[in-house]
Amino acid sequence: MVSATFMFGLDQPSTSFWINAEHRFGPVETLALTACISWPVLLAIRCRQETHPHVGVDVGATLTSMVETSIVRQGDYGFDAPYVPVIFGLLSLGFLTLAVLNATQGAVVGVIATLIAAMWFFGCMASYIYTTRTGKFVVWSQVLDEMNLTGQEQVLDLGCGRGAVLLLAAERLDGGRAHGVDLWRSQDQSGNAVETTTRNAEAEGVADRVELHTADMTELPFSDGQFDVIVSSLAIHNITSKLGRQQVINEALRVLRPGGRLAIADFRHVARYAETLSVAGLSDVRTRGLGWRFWYGGPWAATRLVQATKPDRIA
Ligand SMILES: C[S@@+](CC[C@H](N)C(=O)[O-])C[C@H]1O[C@@H](n2cnc3c(N)ncnc32)[C@H](O)[C@@H]1O
Repeated sequence: MVSATFMFGLDQPSTSFWINAEHRFGPVETLALTACISWPVLLAIRCRQETHPHVGVDVGATLTSMVETSIVRQGDYGFDAPYVPVIFGLLSLGFLTLAVLNATQGAVVGVIATLIAAMWFFGCMASYIYTTRTGKFVVWSQVLDEMNLTGQEQVLDLGCGRGAVLLLAAERLDGGRAHGVDLWRSQDQSGNAVETTTRNAEAEGVADRVELHTADMTELPFSDGQFDVIVSSLAIHNITSKLGRQQVINEALRVLRPGGRLAIADFRHVARYAETLSVAGLSDVRTRGLGWRFWYGGPWAATRLVQATKPDRIA
């Protein structure tokens, strides 16, 4: 039945390639064609906006660096929002099935359109899985290295989940401690639980310098100025209200000591976080794209980083 609504391509199979003028586009066809057309358009728009050098789409260099740069982890960190890659995978399979149905009817344009759509969603799934399993670890390793921790810091990770960033930070501490705050929501990360993060801390050999707290990041259970460094990755956007997200930034500023540093990565609202930090009087507020390794499906879901320093005295 699906193929009956989807056949287009050969008007007279052996002689012409006209799309039948009588043909009416169904919803599935429309989705397939939209997917085909939107990919290059969205990519072009995003590449114009993105200032990070990795986005200059040099396919050869990208593939080489993908193979060369990896990071060994002993823990098991699950998948961010696990239903998203499943949806991408199902859409890819669905379009692949439609391509086969079109092929059996000799509908050439239909086969091409559905194959492109299947590849498009497969690409989204591959990008998402790469980011959540490898890319974010590589990028955060670089960001933490750039922060030049002394090793003595008290670090706080807002929405630490299974510990991807928290434990990378803990590995850079020697005398300091890494504190993770979370509500352990499994819709935001698969297998999310305090026990899982504890196991990961043990697997990475940093359990002696990690503390986990079950708390809402809009109301942090810490005293003023307790932390030297605050990090957060893909967590604050989960708070749906603008007021709630603003409250997280305000709480982070409260528990950050004067002179302390903050680094927040997210794929939405980063400009707003930066604005709140600037208005609050933080210095050296800067944002940047984190490149293709941190795309959750494609360049339209690219993660950005905002960094800032809390001055000794806020005017
Ligand atoms: C996509 S996961 C990212 C986890 C981790 N930062 C990482 O990069 O692997 C988002 C995390 O935010 C947590 N979270 C969502 N809302 C929260 C809240 N109000 N307070 C604390 N944690 C929250 C979720 O439980 C989840 O662990």
